[in-house]
Amino acid sequence: MLKAENIWKSYPEDKRRLTVLRGVNLEVHANEIVVVLGPSGSGKTTLLNILGTLDKPDTGKVWIDGHDTSTLDDSELARLRNEKIGFVFQFHQLIPELTVVENVLLPSIIRGRKPNIDFGMELLELVGLQSKASHYPAELSGGERQRVAVARALINLPSILLADEPSGNLDEKSSDLLHNLIYRVIKDRKMAAVIVTHKNRMMKIADRCYQLSKGVLNEVRCLR
Ligand SMILES: Nc1ncnc2c1ncn2[C@@H]1O[C@H](COP(=O)(O)OP(=O)(O)O)[C@@H](O)[C@H]1O
Ligand SMILES: [Mg+2]
Repeated sequence: MLKAENIWKSYPEDKRRLTVLRGVNLEVHANEIVVVLGPSGSGKTTLLNILGTLDKPDTGKVWIDGHDTSTLDDSELARLRNEKIGFVFQFHQLIPELTVVENVLLPSIIRGRKPNIDFGMELLELVGLQSKASHYPAELSGGERQRVAVARALINLPSILLADEPSGNLDEKSSDLLHNLIYRVIKDRKMAAVIVTHKNRMMKIADRCYQLSKGVLNEVRCLR
């Protein structure tokens, strides 16, 4: 479903280069949740953005649903992302001028589809926010915004979910609620998921866990 092979990535820093990823290998299958743990600055976002083709590795390859992404141009990549990948970010990235349901529908509009309001509402019901459909993001709590972001990530029926610290700014109770929701969503749809986080409690919903350290992934036992 999602495969990364020997990913290296560095950034220019002063006179030398900062090497963040040093040969990362990862394969994620349908119906599987992989959690990558690491402290701030360890390269989690860099890795996730490369897996999601938002950024390119210096060397190494990423396959999405069998497509070698290194052979695709930017517009082909944008289409592949829009169809195959649902993203959830730490700071939701909802558009403040759009209502909750409009935010949820946006990726399908970008895809050129006629907005399916019924399906948007269905997804809002799934995340328990049907009654907030015509509210604006500013009127929601942090946990509610993240749940809208989960609904938005599902509107195009992607086969892959990528989440970057989805509960990063939530308290423990809201985090657990969100984690359980994410678990249900992934397992009901048999998606492949990669979640990067610094929160150990995220391991409770994982099938496989890794620690990102010194630019490589080390498998660790998930706390179940
Ligand atoms: N676009 C960039 N340009 C230069 N350095 C970057 C860039 N993005 C990230 N970095 C650096 O790479 C390291 C890893 O960053 P990041 O992937 O954001 O880690 P994390 O998500 O685990 O906090 C950090 O030292 C950060 O400063
Ligand atoms: Mg990050």
